[in-house]
Amino acid sequence: MSNWWKTATVYQIYPRSFMDSNGDGIGDLQGIIQKLDYLKKLGIDIIWLSPIYDSPNDDNGYDIRNYYQIMQEFGTMEDFNQMLDEIHQRDMKLMMDIVVNHTSDEHEWFQRYHDFYFWQDQPNNWNSLFSGPAWEYDAYRGQYYLHIFSKKQPDLNWENPKVREKVYDMMRWWLDKGVDGFRMDVINFISKDPELPDGPNGDGSAYFMNGPRIHEYLREMNKEVLSKYDCVSVGEMPGTTPEDAKRYTDPNNRELNMIFTFEHMDLDGGPNGKWDLKPLDLVGLKENLEKWQHALHDVGWNSLYWNNHDQPRIVSRFGDDGRYRVKSSKMLATCLHMMQGTPYIYKGEEIGMNNCALDSIDAYRDIETLNMYKAKHDAGVDHETIMTSIYAKGRDNASTPMQWSDASNGGFTTGEPWLQVNPNYKDIHVEAALQNQNSIFYHYQQLIQLRKTIDVMTTGSFHLLYREHPDIFAYERQSNAEKLTVYCNFSVHEHQFDLPDGDVLIHNYKELASTDKLILRPWEAVVFYVNGGHQS
Ligand code: NOJ
Repeated sequence: MSNWWKTATVYQIYPRSFMDSNGDGIGDLQGIIQKLDYLKKLGIDIIWLSPIYDSPNDDNGYDIRNYYQIMQEFGTMEDFNQMLDEIHQRDMKLMMDIVVNHTSDEHEWFQRYHDFYFWQDQPNNWNSLFSGPAWEYDAYRGQYYLHIFSKKQPDLNWENPKVREKVYDMMRWWLDKGVDGFRMDVINFISKDPELPDGPNGDGSAYFMNGPRIHEYLREMNKEVLSKYDCVSVGEMPGTTPEDAKRYTDPNNRELNMIFTFEHMDLDGGPNGKWDLKPLDLVGLKENLEKWQHALHDVGWNSLYWNNHDQPRIVSRFGDDGRYRVKSSKMLATCLHMMQGTPYIYKGEEIGMNNCALDSIDAYRDIETLNMYKAKHDAGVDHETIMTSIYAKGRDNASTPMQWSDASNGGFTTGEPWLQVNPNYKDIHVEAALQNQNSIFYHYQQLIQLRKTIDVMTTGSFHLLYREHPDIFAYERQSNAEKLTVYCNFSVHEHQFDLPDGDVLIHNYKELASTDKLILRPWEAVVFYVNGGHQS
């Protein structure tokens, strides 16, 4: 089977926030259909669609009630079929999000099959990743069930072969329908230590992340499902090291094509996790990404991302979303897309959408944020401190509706949006981006096109330069015939280097500051390209 996903660029749609076609304030499938030409213009190859299955929406669709039905608010199965068709007509592919570590507590399985889930008379001490204990008492059964996420997301017990069979059936059903692959939600959580031991301070992650049978399950899934189709697979895998990733993505192991690491996303969190804010140390980020680039160079494959629906907006996080919003967005894009792997763009990233601080906690919708607020508030943490964390890291930063135009609600809906639109939509929106040849949009478009023609972007080795430099992220990519030298300034400070060989391939300033020296201005990103490799 081919490796078409190695030269592809993925675009993630969070359907609730993408485009509302019927004025109910919630994005939907017909809305997506309206915007496919826009995605085609950007140049993307694969759409990753966050869950669109029937769900009570405790966690915006990551709590699935029925894997074979479309969420009513998003449309019907006919709408889905039409969308899939239209995606394929435009020569793009569709990657579905599947959530099979857990279901909704409203799923028929939870109601009918006791042994599909984890039940205990006496729960262990694990905490839920969404605050509070990971076990909920069920009065009807007189027992506790495990939920690593919300109490409406009970964990499936993969030890039970019937669970695995049902999951594989469902995956084949979607592939037979014509979808082109899967993004698998927290897939490295599916194998739990059967003893379910207590963890230090309630942290059970050592017993449910990358558990004892995980590789066996993934190989089985590959054999039963993935290997039978020319499809792409990416596993979301918190707590995974490059060594683990090698095992998961080595084609000889027949598990997955690539995984999402979290290591680079955890660098600006303190010892108490993501809400414990810590400034980014660029040297640490470089070292981390270098480690992943090296580990998966010959074996396996990286996925490259700065954003998704769980992360705050990258321009607000590692860039400057004020004066240098445009420059720093382009810089971050360049820095990421020039590495080896498959790049992922999250809706709105391509126009430089940024974080949005909502007026009051009541305006927030995300369950993780709301639970955390309550838990910290109950523990006596003051409102301002909690809100500072939410402004920096809350998931609703990523969920604010897509900004299509300067029409009311950014052209996202004619109704009342389910989550406030960032008020800066009047200035930052797709229409403006499309009209301006220097926009962030066209920079992304150029990066995506380059990937199709410049082989070294896909194949080249990675060599980090100026390792200890606190502001500059620079690296080379090298293959037999070609070489790229990438310079990215993660600061407003000017820095000077010798000019590297080659022609400018892509740049976020009009011209170089000097013809003798490489002078990097605020947030400047420039890539030099040599065709002919070392010899030229
Ligand atoms: C990871 C998903 O990305 C996140 O959005 C979700 O809340 C949890 N898994 C639970 O499904």
